[in-house]
Order: sequence, then C-alpha cells, then structure tokens
Amino acid sequence: MKIFLDTANIDEIRKGVEWGLVDGVTTNPSLMERAGVKDFAAAAKEILKVTPGPVSLEVVATDFSGMMKQAEKIAALGPNAVVKIPMTLDGLAAIKKLRERSIPVNCTLVFSPIQALFAAKSGAEYVSPFVGRLDDIAEDGMTLIEQIKTIFVNYDIQTKILVASVRNPVHVVRSALIGADIVTLPFDVLKKLPQHPKTDEGLARFLEDWNKIFPGGRFPL
Ligand code: G3P
Repeated sequence: MKIFLDTANIDEIRKGVEWGLVDGVTTNPSLMERAGVKDFAAAAKEILKVTPGPVSLEVVATDFSGMMKQAEKIAALGPNAVVKIPMTLDGLAAIKKLRERSIPVNCTLVFSPIQALFAAKSGAEYVSPFVGRLDDIAEDGMTLIEQIKTIFVNYDIQTKILVASVRNPVHVVRSALIGADIVTLPFDVLKKLPQHPKTDEGLARFLEDWNKIFPGGRFPL
C-alpha cells in the first residue's frame, strides 16, 4: 500500500521524504490555505519537485470548460502532476475528456460506492473516498472502502483506491487489510504510525542495561 502525504506544507513534505515514507502527495484548496500559500504556481512547482511520486492538485472551477482549462494548466506544471476533479456531472465529463488526452485524474469528494464506480468508468486514475467525513456523520467510512474494493475486483477495474480524510492509525490498518492501493495521511498521522509505547519502553531498558556495562553508553568497537 502506498503512503501519500495529505498536505501542502513543504516542510512536512520534505520531512516525510527524508524519512523515506512518502510515495506521493495530495493537496486541496483547504490545505493550500492552511499552508499559507499565496503563489499557487510557485508552491505547486516546489511540491512537485520535492515529491518522489504523483502530486494531486485541485481545480476550483465547477463547470466543464473551466475545469478543462485549469486541468491543462495543472498538468503542464510537471510530469508528476495529477489533476484533482470533484465528483460532479461536469467533473465526470472532464475526467472522460482528460483521460482521452492521457492526463491523470484523481476524482475527489467521493462518498458512495456508485460515485466511485462512475468515476472509474469515466477514466479516473484514482478515486478518493473520504472516510473521516463519513465517520463524522455517524456512517462507517471504512465500509465504503470495502464496497468500492469489492466492486473494483468484480469488474477488474484498474482505478486506484486512494483513501482520504484519514484521521487515525485504525483507518490505515483497515485500509491495508481491505487492500486499498493508497492512503493519504495528514503529517500528524504519518508521524504516529511507526510509534509504539512498548518500543520506547524496550529501547529505554536496552540502553539502561548497556550503561551498566559501559557507563555513558560507550560503544566499544
Ligand atoms: O484528502 C482529503 C482530505 O484532506 C480531507 O480531510 O480531514 O478535511 O476530512 P479532512
């Protein structure tokens, strides 16, 4: 399962890449605002340069021709740019046209299995179901991932399931068990994943015992 960072904050992306944990990045207008982005082109180019994989950048037009114009500009920013298009009727038309032009699309704001199926049929490379926002309204976001996975397996659909609106490590474990292709994580969730209190406790005990033999933690090689 690939790990993407769900952020437009360049320092977080650099850190995640340094840890070797980042396969790609997803952004959206809210994340751009949160990262304090003023110059969209400059920020997008920097993210595309630093990221060793696909970077989703979202259109803000809501009509077909506006989406197409913005999508072409986004695609021209770099070879790893992926155009994020919202799940609407105009969005589906744009996805189909962009597919014909070999421009990869991540269909965003997916909340139902049928939306995912339609996005895939239109030619989206990725679908982004928002699990946390379904949990927020007392639905089970992960059930949606199971349903999409079953549908994609049933029809041998190649569109990748990119689990979004991930809020906690349990979302990540369940995504992996279901066989989702990608999870996109906020930086704080990414940081939490490799940590475990028993690991910290075990390491402290090893170092304490070592110090009894070699005071000051000296390493005698
Ligand atoms: O990738 C979509 C994601 O950014 C939405 O997350 O936490 O705002 O629901 P959230």
